[in-house]
Amino acid sequence: MPYFTNDAYISNRTIIRETMAQLNASRLLVENFQLLEATGLTKGVLDLACGRGRNGLFLLQSNIPTTFADNNPAALRYVSVQAAKVPAPAVCWLVDLEDKKQNPFESKCFDAILVFNYLHRPLIEPIKNAVDRGGYLFYETFTIQQREIGRPQNPNYLLKPGELLELLDGWHVEHYFEGEQENPRRAIANVIARKP
Ligand SMILES: C[S@@+](CC[C@H](N)C(=O)[O-])C[C@H]1O[C@@H](n2cnc3c(N)ncnc32)[C@H](O)[C@@H]1O
Repeated sequence: MPYFTNDAYISNRTIIRETMAQLNASRLLVENFQLLEATGLTKGVLDLACGRGRNGLFLLQSNIPTTFADNNPAALRYVSVQAAKVPAPAVCWLVDLEDKKQNPFESKCFDAILVFNYLHRPLIEPIKNAVDRGGYLFYETFTIQQREIGRPQNPNYLLKPGELLELLDGWHVEHYFEGEQENPRRAIANVIARKP
């Protein structure tokens, strides 16, 4: 049946992409995740808008308890299958982070929150509030310069110059980068900041 043929084809390509993605945890995280040890890691890390969890699964493989949040059930199903292969505790959280009726982080607190390739400005303050004192925010996403390179093009999804630093005023910034990176070429800003 065409449906199954097509489905199998997509699913094979998806598996290859997912495997690559899992091996492709962000350099920012891979090079700096040891910072998280200083938090004691009692509350765990949130991989926000995790997609197929390339970053959170990397932490999980490093024995760091991780919560994976996304509104894509298929992505979370993939994450839960991968997470079951490692002993560290994992939680998959199906959530609409942009639901205007509620703060998704109400009464939630994490040692660190990872946000990669996702920007929803109304969520920034709730994200900051959900990081424990002494905890970390790792944030990396596209800047407005990305419009000259490719997608996304919508300014709602693109950081303004210096915006991450402004949003984290008062936090201890341990790393900041804003500019172009290669492989693939992209215009991004990234930050690691510790909550005072
Ligand atoms: C570009 S992907 C980034 C995935 C991952 N952070 C990474 O860097 O590999 C953006 C993710 O945000 C999720 N997302 C978009 N809108 C969302 C919403 N309203 N609630 C929860 N997740 C959302 C998508 O499902 C997708 O997995």
